[in-house]
Amino acid sequence: MMSNATQLIHSIPCDPLTGALSVPIYQTSTFVQDAPGVNRGYDYARSNNPTRAALENLVAGLEKGAAASAFGSGLAAIDAVVKLLKSGDEILAVDDIYGGAFRLFTQVYEKFGITVNYADTSDAENVLNAITPKTRLIWLETPTNPTLKISDIKAIAQIAKAHSCLLCVDNTFASPALQQPLTLGADIVVHSATKYLGGHSDLIAGIVVSNTKELGEKIKFLQNATGAILGPFDSWLVIRGIETLHLRIKQHCSNAQQIAEYLETHPAVDKVFYPGLASHPNHEIAKKQSKGFGGIVSFTLKNDTEEAAIKFVTSTRYFHLAESLGGIKRLLCHPANMTHKSIPSAKRKAAGVADSLIRLSVGLEDAEDLVEDLAAAFEKLNTSHILNKQNEYAGSLA
Ligand SMILES: Cc1ncc(COP(=O)(O)O)c(C=O)c1O
Repeated sequence: MMSNATQLIHSIPCDPLTGALSVPIYQTSTFVQDAPGVNRGYDYARSNNPTRAALENLVAGLEKGAAASAFGSGLAAIDAVVKLLKSGDEILAVDDIYGGAFRLFTQVYEKFGITVNYADTSDAENVLNAITPKTRLIWLETPTNPTLKISDIKAIAQIAKAHSCLLCVDNTFASPALQQPLTLGADIVVHSATKYLGGHSDLIAGIVVSNTKELGEKIKFLQNATGAILGPFDSWLVIRGIETLHLRIKQHCSNAQQIAEYLETHPAVDKVFYPGLASHPNHEIAKKQSKGFGGIVSFTLKNDTEEAAIKFVTSTRYFHLAESLGGIKRLLCHPANMTHKSIPSAKRKAAGVADSLIRLSVGLEDAEDLVEDLAAAFEKLNTSHILNKQNEYAGSLA
């Protein structure tokens, strides 16, 4: 049996026309026809493009799906899946869902009569209790962004089937190198390919993978009918990123594990969120359904204030403060003020995204250097805490 990594590299096609080893970028809007309706498989580049098709086939294979469609962003991919529904249908979604998906559901789709209910899906029992006769789509992220909650895909897929609902898993954080939700019973997988698939923080892209040809055709219809396609150059960049996916993910996982273990021992840290830690409440499910635990680590501070978190995220030398994740370079962010700003604060906190929560996207540098950087930022936090106390004291004397 070929390994997944071998299969992946082997499945990237050479150009049948010229033998070019790298997939050519077909930078064209249209294709010449021999007679009306007689073409060589392509007619107009919104409907299909050979470079995009190479990417779509590659990701369908990686996720063990029947078909894939590539979109201009992860959100456009999510949007295409929601468009499978009709007015009156309900979505049941994981409660600490990515802020952009929450915004799309509430601010765009609610007015079209699609309602969303949220549940802590890390306990499958909660899914069963929250399902209504109108639920048509169950939406999971596992691990979630940014509290790294894990949901049992297999158990929830069984619940979805029993209630005639589609199960869609946002597999952005794990990537198919670690977890293949379609093999566990999910119907659809979505990706922000902006993250690990692309892997180099140089593009915005999204992918929907379906477990059947029929579902794949519905998504393909929506891709063409609504037009949010991925262009040929960005498709090529994602293919190029995917070529090193397995290698990168291995290093991300190993670095993240070391950093999570370091954070667990630091006196300024309150909680560490990483599915690879034995202390993670869903560690056993994570071990069962994925080959590794990914490159994202979140933590909260004992001094649980936005001020302390902001001080920390502006004190690191290597970790850059930025939205996004999954690239070779390390990044960090403060979700309460960045990715999750569009979620009302009470709802955000109830989902475990505390004021001081900091999310690290661990890069491919040496783990020791990254730990050193974090240690120095903790030092600064400590001194600023003492200075604040001194200022408070001076103020009280004045
Ligand atoms: C889990 C997850 N899904 C979807 C998205 C949206 O992807 P994009 O930014 O490519 O539209 C993001 C973006 O951060 C994400 O983290």
